[in-house]
Amino acid sequence: MPRSESSLLSSLRAAIPAAVLLEDDAAIAPLLTDHRRLYQGRALAVALPRSTEEVSTLLAWCNVQRVGVVPQGGNTSYCGGATPDESGTQLVVCLARMRRIRTVDAANFSMTVEAGCTLAEVQQAAAAAERYFPLELGSAGSCQIGGNLATNAGGLNVLRFGMARALTLGIEAVLADGRVYTHLRALRKDNTGYDLTGLMIGSEGTLGILTAATLKLWPQPRSTATAFVAVSDVAAAVALLAWLREAAGERINSFELLPRNAVELALRHIEGVANPLTGNHDWYVLCELSSFADEALDELLEAALADASAAGLVQDAALCTGERQRAQLWRLRENVPEAQRRAGPSLKHDISVPIAALSEFVAAASDWVRLHVPAGTLVAYGHAGDGNLHFNISFPKEMQATQVAELEPIVRRAIHDLVAAHGGSFSAEHGIGRLKVGALERYSSPVTLAMMREIKRALDPNGIMNPGKLLAAASTS
Ligand code: FAD
Ligand code: MLT
Ligand code: ZN
Repeated sequence: MPRSESSLLSSLRAAIPAAVLLEDDAAIAPLLTDHRRLYQGRALAVALPRSTEEVSTLLAWCNVQRVGVVPQGGNTSYCGGATPDESGTQLVVCLARMRRIRTVDAANFSMTVEAGCTLAEVQQAAAAAERYFPLELGSAGSCQIGGNLATNAGGLNVLRFGMARALTLGIEAVLADGRVYTHLRALRKDNTGYDLTGLMIGSEGTLGILTAATLKLWPQPRSTATAFVAVSDVAAAVALLAWLREAAGERINSFELLPRNAVELALRHIEGVANPLTGNHDWYVLCELSSFADEALDELLEAALADASAAGLVQDAALCTGERQRAQLWRLRENVPEAQRRAGPSLKHDISVPIAALSEFVAAASDWVRLHVPAGTLVAYGHAGDGNLHFNISFPKEMQATQVAELEPIVRRAIHDLVAAHGGSFSAEHGIGRLKVGALERYSSPVTLAMMREIKRALDPNGIMNPGKLLAAASTS
């Protein structure tokens, strides 16, 4: 161990109770690589603080010592944001021990939770008070609410409820110098200057560490209707979305698009899923209505789909007959990424365009992939109701990871350029992390980048918070 490293560790051990530092190499190892295995880092140490005060002590120490800090939640994100770099000089701060539900205020439709609660624990605590927290991701069992807010996560219910930022009333966060920003106010209206809570949400650990949040709750849905619908193409899916919005208004909370090959991948690789439709269809929509009142939503959805079918928008449709079938369909959808992973290597793109441009974008980008990536198969699925597709390209299992990696920069540039040409975003919901730092530089205006850098400098003048993530690396010395 280099001398400076060992003296830093001695200083850290003197600053913080011994129980905060994780010393077991086997327990540390999984925290040093990201979910997709794109990055393998090293760390000076890994800390598991138990309280906001301990987070504050850690950050104050790091700021004085100029040690880079990598906040980590459930480590399920896709852009390498929670992984330390290869230098072995950074401190990973994992929030897993801060998992108290501080309060659930059913009357105020709000709850205050610590950052290390998993999303599933937050949902369950809300449900126990007969309330509903609508953020829903396939990773709910392992991602943490702190990570969800740090990435401004999207997921399956954005169409109706918005992204994580829209679900948050306030936060508690430790700033780079150890000061604690406390804004856990459960107010719907609070028009007092800059939106600092909104700024910290989506900052991916580059401005501070979120330690708690006050979240919005809703009544529990009392009626639900779910359908699996076959459509001829993306244009028909987009038209169907407008049709359903007109018929069902804000009751529509999910509108997920799946190409035939995504459904086939899930059927092949995931147990316990089934396609309720027969026949060959190129595209499918999984859509869901819900209501906080007792309503005949099955009838509403059935009638809307029948009318859409008569108008030529729908080829076939199956209305879910019960909770078991509904769970099966959601299992199919949520496991498409896992099925794709089991099938072989892939290149992932998390893009969005205005919904009206979705069909044209998919046609142009599919043509490009067919022409330039003959070894790959496009698997473009996702949250079409939000104009967000996971525009992924799968490769045969036999293909070497190095061959796929060689293609990656050219493919990414072409897809992202097409996204930009269609007025879209190269990162709809997964954030920037380390993976997309270059893309942020390429596709943001100089004024946007300058504002982001000025905010970063003001809140983290020594550049210790998650160096090299979101914005290009700033020196920590
Ligand atoms: P991590 O991966 O640990 O960290 C993510 C980033 O946030 C890092 O930059 C980290 O430094 C920072 N961070 C973490 N905790 C804190 C904190 N307390 N304070 C400050 N910074 C922090 N994402 C979607 O948006 N929509 C989806 O539909 C979706 N589906 C998924 C399905 C599966 C099966 C999987 C594996 C992932 C999916 N994701 C999805 C991606 C991922 O789950 C989300 O990005 C999630 O919000 C990350 O939370 P996490 O706790 O795992 O964060
Ligand atoms: C999803 O919507 O399934 C995820 O955001 C994308 C993925 O896991 O690849
Ligand atoms: Zn997604």
